[in-house]
Amino acid sequence: MLIAIDGPSGAGKGTVARAISEALQCRHVDTGAMYRAVAWRAADLGVSLDDEPAVADVARAAALRAEQGRVEIDGHDVTRAIRTPEMDAAAARVARLGQVRQVLVERQRDYAASGDLVMEGRDIGTVVLPQADVKVYLDASPDERARRRAGDAAHAANGGDVATIASALAQRDHSDKSRTVSPLTLAPDAVYIDTTGLPIADVVDQVLALVRAAQARG
Ligand code: DC
Repeated sequence: MLIAIDGPSGAGKGTVARAISEALQCRHVDTGAMYRAVAWRAADLGVSLDDEPAVADVARAAALRAEQGRVEIDGHDVTRAIRTPEMDAAAARVARLGQVRQVLVERQRDYAASGDLVMEGRDIGTVVLPQADVKVYLDASPDERARRRAGDAAHAANGGDVATIASALAQRDHSDKSRTVSPLTLAPDAVYIDTTGLPIADVVDQVLALVRAAQARG
């Protein structure tokens, strides 16, 4: 069973993907964390994000894991270090680089080749796993997404009021939706769920119902 969860930042993808992977006892791969880790490693190695082939080399050469909420690149545990406003912006820049996407998409497909998983990102249902058994697109109003981000423990340590977070989110939304390579779009066969005002448990139940329906179909 391959489950693709796409949508903009703060729509609840991480929380929902984690809950689904626990309920189904399968892996959870966070592809956004892969773009973040490459951005972190490029900075660590002094590679400019303007140098697309060099950043792609960093991605190609890296020992990279982004499973079960833990992110490691080339022996560094970057689980926390990649959740800063600087890394938010750097990852969005890295995600615009077609050569890097090629490398990471291949790695994401390798993950899927070895069995059941929940994969979250922006282009999972459209590009990475178009054959996914369940495709969900989670969305929420910009205000709600900014409020969730502000309350998110991983980001909260870095401070920031809701208005600042909202404006950074709007910039990243624009970058993710307007880029030429694999922009964030709704797959025609994805189920759209607006999570504004919904308790996360309800969203998880909706996605689990879709999984059961897909299992019943065989
Ligand atoms: O989900 P996130 O905020 O951790 O993602 C970090 C950046 O990477 C964000 O700008 C969106 C981008 N991204 C992407 O382009 N494709 C993916 N599959 C996952 C994330």
